[in-house]
Amino acid sequence: SRRHSIAVIAGDGIGQEVVPAALQTLRLVAERHDFALDEREYDWGSDHYRAHGRMMPVDGIEQLARHDAIFFGAVGAPDIPDVETLWGLLIPMRREFDQYINLRPVRTLPGIPARVVGGDDIDLVIVRENVEGEYSSVGGRLYPGTPYAAAVQEAFFSHRGVTRAAEYAATLAESRRRRVTSATKSNGIIHTMPFWDEVVAEVMQRHPDVTLEKVLIDALAAKLVLAPASFDVIVASNLFGDILSDLAGALAGSIGVAPSANLNPERRHPSMFEPVHGSAPDIAGQGLADPIGQLWAGAMMLEHLGEQAAADEVVAAFEGCLRDGIATPDIGGRPPRRSSRTRWRRGSGSWAERSPSLPT
Ligand code: NAD
Ligand code: IPM
Ligand code: MN
Repeated sequence: SRRHSIAVIAGDGIGQEVVPAALQTLRLVAERHDFALDEREYDWGSDHYRAHGRMMPVDGIEQLARHDAIFFGAVGAPDIPDVETLWGLLIPMRREFDQYINLRPVRTLPGIPARVVGGDDIDLVIVRENVEGEYSSVGGRLYPGTPYAAAVQEAFFSHRGVTRAAEYAATLAESRRRRVTSATKSNGIIHTMPFWDEVVAEVMQRHPDVTLEKVLIDALAAKLVLAPASFDVIVASNLFGDILSDLAGALAGSIGVAPSANLNPERRHPSMFEPVHGSAPDIAGQGLADPIGQLWAGAMMLEHLGEQAAADEVVAAFEGCLRDGIATPDIGGRPPRRSSRTRWRRGSGSWAERSPSLPT
């Protein structure tokens, strides 16, 4: 039978809760569809950093390179600077494996209280450029500890980099509602964005059946809040795509349900699947984390591995739970009674009103 080799990195905070939860479902579905997930767990993250001064071993990337895909939770701990945790594990995976597309679908899910003006269903995908742009490694601190202290970071946009993101977005739109919205800021202040616009327009000429609309990022943020149902595919730079994905996720209910696929479309390297959210230290260890973003990312991983039927079943499973009212507090759930064995359910009243003391 078919086998897929998966690197599992739960990482920090709620990663330790949502990754095992999601894996339970993925294993069940794999069994039902006659394939095996050969999981290999890596205990990398902030504990590894505290013990060894690094987020992962020196040859960490080489170890990961042997797998078909990476299933990742999150990194980030309050006592370690984010620059260490992020440049030490998350960003090297995206860059070394040339995962230049970060695909972030956002849909209205059944049973989640709408946060949307008008109430039309949201069904959009953010195609985020994932290895260059504002997240470039060119720059750093200058004159630290002096009165001249400063920081600089060059935004890096290459013709090749923008082209492949726009191509991906256009091709995706062809299988959907044929609309691409390009997030930009080309009103003369930021030098890189007129270049972004030119390259995106060049690509779209090769896709005459797709309508391109470019929208300035500030106006786009407002339009996303006011009319999220009007969007199909949004193509965005690294930073703009990052911000829009939390915004769109929250509009659909919670960033806890938002998935993300860091893709190397040519499959020369493993792709990486993680939720949009981070390690959420504010709720970690309390059993409050919503596992849907992680699980949905798992479904995207199965799809990438060619297991479409299994992926569909995973999505159907969490949608079924939502229809049955099973929900964590971020999407309106309230806790089960201490003595009962029932699960989180939605009900009237806020979580805070109903339970002054959180279960530990
Ligand atoms: P976050 O996404 O961790 O949390 C933002 C808010 O959303 C918090 O209030 C949190 O409780 C809530 N939330 C997030 N996921 C949830 C879930 N599954 N269920 C219910 N509620 C959820 O963002 P942050 O607080 O800005 O960052 C915390 C740490 O995570 C930082 O160190 C940051 O650098 C890191 N981070 C890592 C990744 C990653 O590894 N990919 C992504 C984002 C942030
Ligand atoms: C995300 C995260 C990361 C990003 C951070 C943690 C570097 O916010 O995956 O959305 O900005 O890419
Ligand atoms: Mn983000």
